Amino acid sequence: MKVDFVAAKTEPADGQALAVLAFEDGEFSPAAEALDAQVGGAVRRAIGATRFKGTMGQTVSILAPSGTAAGRVVVVGAGKQDAFDGRAAETAAAHAYNAVKDTGAERLLIMMPAAGAERQARAALGVRLAAYRFDKYRTTEKPEKKPSVARVDVGCEDAKAAAKAFKDLAALADAISFARDLVSEPANVLYPVEYARRVSALSRLGLEVEVLGVKEMTKLGMGALLGVGQGSARESQLVVMQWKGGPKDAKPIAFIGKGVCFDTGGVSLKPAEGMEEMVTDMAGSAAVAGAMYALAARKAKVNAVAVLGLVENMPGGAAQRPGDVVKTMSGQTVEVINTDAEGRLVLADAIWYCQDRFKPSLLVDLATLTGAIVIALGKDIAGFYCTDEKLAQNLQAASKASGDAIWRMPLPADYERLLDSHIADMKNTGPRQGGSITAALFIKRFTNKLPWAHIDMAGTAWKPNSQAAMIPSGATGFGVRLLDQLVRDIHEG
Ligand code: BES
Ligand code: MN
Ligand code: ZN
Repeated sequence: MKVDFVAAKTEPADGQALAVLAFEDGEFSPAAEALDAQVGGAVRRAIGATRFKGTMGQTVSILAPSGTAAGRVVVVGAGKQDAFDGRAAETAAAHAYNAVKDTGAERLLIMMPAAGAERQARAALGVRLAAYRFDKYRTTEKPEKKPSVARVDVGCEDAKAAAKAFKDLAALADAISFARDLVSEPANVLYPVEYARRVSALSRLGLEVEVLGVKEMTKLGMGALLGVGQGSARESQLVVMQWKGGPKDAKPIAFIGKGVCFDTGGVSLKPAEGMEEMVTDMAGSAAVAGAMYALAARKAKVNAVAVLGLVENMPGGAAQRPGDVVKTMSGQTVEVINTDAEGRLVLADAIWYCQDRFKPSLLVDLATLTGAIVIALGKDIAGFYCTDEKLAQNLQAASKASGDAIWRMPLPADYERLLDSHIADMKNTGPRQGGSITAALFIKRFTNKLPWAHIDMAGTAWKPNSQAAMIPSGATGFGVRLLDQLVRDIHEG
């Protein structure tokens, strides 16, 4: 979707759609006011014939009003006027797009002069996120079923200033689309080697990307990660991404992602119903790759490294068995009670490798790790665990600013014993109760006294029936914006 900024005096092209904002308590934006005057009060009359109150996301469409070239005018509720911040601008613009996208109009002009460059840019971001679509495998879809809107313009008092403010946000939109694409791809297309190839292509943005295969990982002693992948015909991969935008000697910030390209559960096989959703079990790594994309595309002044653990968890003849004992790169041994608790095994080696090699200042891992976190927090909020108060505060602030919702969970020392094994240093699962917590405690054992946070995003990665204006149904891109914001707050504030 192309979004441009145009001068506010621009009239909509013949027959195209025009959107203006109205606030709660009957307050019109300047553009809505001007339009209402231009069309002889038809906007206020139309609204008066509805239950429109100006609450966020309400829309009223007026067809072919006289006095304007627009074929359709959409009045979009934008909430309380004094709460009209960047977030509200994004959301309102996304609603404007959603209200018009299937009407047959090919262009939409969202008029928001006097909103300021920052909010105009954020409106463009809202449109970009709302207009995301993964339709490359729909070969027979009729054109009239596809969105008709191909171009959106935002009307500004200073189009140049808005375009400038949009530059970094366009990088973010591209990065989120990149992550959504990875999550949306089916597992027969996006297996570890192909995934690594797509990430390697990001070297065009100035990222350094290395790919380790089974041979290298065997040498490094990554028995936990390799154990997960050994039941698959697809080779496991470890992808290392580096962005060197900061001072030469500054320690990098580190992101680790779970990249299980498909999770059958392995020999501890999952039930058939709903198993297809496990194509999204690499969303943590996609968020991390997306965040690195954003940092590089906007040339962030920071050193960042990312490690993606890419495997496929299959029950092939060479698969690991329940009861197997594997040795992690850290030297600690693990009794694999349940082969479906594979994410933590992948993360254990990816995290250890990253710390060992890069000595990062802090480490954040993202993973679609447990069904238990979905039971606890639902589909809109991810769980997060943290060993450092400053990092926890930074994450909470970044969550608020980015809209990627997280809620802090505890790391109780008393629960450590739930991972005791009779044969090895630990087992890979505890009881069903508190399953997200024991998973976090397991991962913690592979972090080495550095500020660490773990985000269990099993619920938020995938929304088959999204109600959010900026998240089309499917892959959400959760986490990209959170990490990008975290870097902004910590290193660019
Ligand atoms: N990938 C799943 C977690 C998951 C569940 C992601 C639902 C997205 C939606 C993970 O590998 C898994 O299977 N976890 C098990 C752990 C259990 C065996 C201890 C779970 O949560 O049931
Ligand atoms: Mn699993
Ligand atoms: Zn999994």
